[in-house]
Amino acid sequence: MTEDLGIGVIGTGMIGQDHIRRIADVLSGARVTAVADIDRTRAEEVAAKRGAKVYDDAGALIAAPEVDAVLVCSWGPAHIEAVLPGLEAGKPLFVEKPLAVSQDDCLKIIDAELTLGKRLIQVGYMRRYDAAYAALKKTIDSGAIGAPLMYHAAHRNARVPADLYTDDMAVADTMVHDIDVARFLLDDEVARIRVIAGKKNSIGGRLRDPILGVMEMAGGAVVTVEVSVNIQYGYDIRGEVSGETGTAELAEANRVVLKSGDSFCGRVPADWRERFIEAYDKELQDFINTAKGGTVSGPSAWDGYAIQVVSDAGIKAASSGEIVACEMVKKPALYT
Ligand SMILES: NC(=O)c1ccc[n+]([C@@H]2O[C@H](COP(=O)([O-])OP(=O)(O)OC[C@H]3O[C@@H](n4cnc5c(N)ncnc54)[C@H](O)[C@@H]3O)[C@@H](O)[C@H]2O)c1
Repeated sequence: MTEDLGIGVIGTGMIGQDHIRRIADVLSGARVTAVADIDRTRAEEVAAKRGAKVYDDAGALIAAPEVDAVLVCSWGPAHIEAVLPGLEAGKPLFVEKPLAVSQDDCLKIIDAELTLGKRLIQVGYMRRYDAAYAALKKTIDSGAIGAPLMYHAAHRNARVPADLYTDDMAVADTMVHDIDVARFLLDDEVARIRVIAGKKNSIGGRLRDPILGVMEMAGGAVVTVEVSVNIQYGYDIRGEVSGETGTAELAEANRVVLKSGDSFCGRVPADWRERFIEAYDKELQDFINTAKGGTVSGPSAWDGYAIQVVSDAGIKAASSGEIVACEMVKKPALYT
């Protein structure tokens, strides 16, 4: 396809609007031709700015002739109702995380993709497109630290909305990013997980915060992920891999280090948008480029499924205090 890819966006909320902005103002090779949202007024406002058509539901948008590929940016539980018809129509789909909210639905999606015999789904785990994580992966794969043995991560948010954020979300919405990174960096699946909640941050009120996820990968490597969601000072993302002969860690993300008096300092990003803005641009440009060729790359439906398994196990582990096994079906060859 030489002309611009026509993209239909389902869900014109916060991330949907952000992706529409980047397609229109930052990326190349695509334009937003259609939008749909259960909030029709919101969809109309967004469409008016971009000259896109408005559809009443996901099915009508997917069937539209000006839609070559689809972005699914609705709430997680609504993803399945867009993804299955999208696959049936044979249109490439960029699905914001989570792929779906149950393992059964993830497996239905995998089955539908297997029937097609090619990948049409890219899931929005954008950290793989971040320059620092890509460099960390390259360092590990180069053998510079020997075989990787442990991955230690921290995901710290300045704050979360006290009335909306729940204990389960610390795993299902927040820890999932490091679950994906651990699988990506270590090229392995999570075998079991334990979640420890210790002394509470009093600022979090009723929330169990912080928590520590401790995972064992199938090959034996150990992963620890701290999730703190009321750390106040900014959005602080850390990752370090220790190997047999060395360690490799994400460098500080700020571009300028100020030295003044007897101190040095740099900026801590305010939130995930600031920290990962370039990764979001790259992941979506990759989707546009590959979708034009009729398939996709990047995080797959399998990744979406495997992360869902670990997330479900993590939620169980957090409430029981037990170690919970992450039992997965056999990985289909399409995803190897
Ligand atoms: N990759 C990331 O880092 C990242 C960051 C933020 C959000 N997300 C994901 O993106 C998705 C959307 O999050 P958000 O923060 O933009 O939420 P949001 O509430 O701001 O927007 C969601 C929009 O979807 C619409 N919607 C809900 N059900 C729908 C349906 N059945 N059909 C059409 N529209 C529907 C809502 O009306 C709303 O406008 C979630 O799955 C979230 O987890 C991912």
